[in-house]
Amino acid sequence: MKQEVMACAPGKVNLSLRVGGLREDGFHELDTVFCALDIYDDVHATLDPALSMSITGLGEELPVDESNLVIKAAKLLQEKSGINLGARLVVEKRIPVAGGMAGGSADAAATLVALNELWELGYTKLELLEFGAELGSDVPFALLGGIAHGRGRGENLVPIETAANMFGVVMLANPVGLSTPAVFQEFDRLQIAEAGSAPAESTELISYLQEEADLSQRSAVTSAGLRKFLINDLEPAAFSLRPDLAEISRKLQEELNLPALLSGSGPTFAVLSEVSSLNEDVASLQKSFPELMVFAGAMTNCGAHLRWTK
Ligand code: C5P
Repeated sequence: MKQEVMACAPGKVNLSLRVGGLREDGFHELDTVFCALDIYDDVHATLDPALSMSITGLGEELPVDESNLVIKAAKLLQEKSGINLGARLVVEKRIPVAGGMAGGSADAAATLVALNELWELGYTKLELLEFGAELGSDVPFALLGGIAHGRGRGENLVPIETAANMFGVVMLANPVGLSTPAVFQEFDRLQIAEAGSAPAESTELISYLQEEADLSQRSAVTSAGLRKFLINDLEPAAFSLRPDLAEISRKLQEELNLPALLSGSGPTFAVLSEVSSLNEDVASLQKSFPELMVFAGAMTNCGAHLRWTK
């Protein structure tokens, strides 16, 4: 039997996040285009009679009890399989905490992959996607990776074939996090969408991504071409809770004239960039926003996957 495994899962940005009205189950119907970024959280899992977790890197202050999605993911696998094994889980976090990049969901996705291997459960990717949806709206995408159209709560996914690995992203993370449920509640309080209403669709962005994937064209997706499709319906709600974010958005778009949007429920911003100028763009944005943590990412086709086993 294996003693130790390591799996990782990517963070994400939503290139388009269209939000409908509140559903009866307390969630909002979404129409979104997820894009996985090559910024990964790792989960090291060692066989152990008990189930426990710890965190290194970012987020060392986070709870490590049953409220953590990592423990929830492990317990879900124990329940589904009826297995009587435990594990010591160490999460190495690089994805900003409460940043709108689905770091917690990435941790849950990496845990599902790691423990499926460590405990030799043999679940298929499809089964793990179903378990992921029980854990959180963004967990299935963290398992899938690449670029995908998300509907429902975000868990109904259709991969989008594209040549989009041509663009890079500069992420601007904020030292103060923002709670996703709080942003959705503010979205409701501001009555941005009527209860039960459908979200707008991301059709034009998806067509652009798919057309540009046509190999005969070779023109590929560029940050300039993507710019007019970038939209996040949660921005007014996040900016209402956090006026400092409205100011960052204004500076990025109006003063610096950059293709920028809030990532998910925020407070991280994403600025699209060409891969060739990514390093310079990181340096210049760090200068413009010394109070933020500025780092580079690139679209990746990887979802949660095993790195090694022992
Ligand atoms: O699914 P997840 O647990 O990540 O969602 C966290 C919270 O975000 C939900 O409890 C809900 O308040 C809000 N949410 C929502 N609509 C979605 C996804 C999340 O209202 N589609």
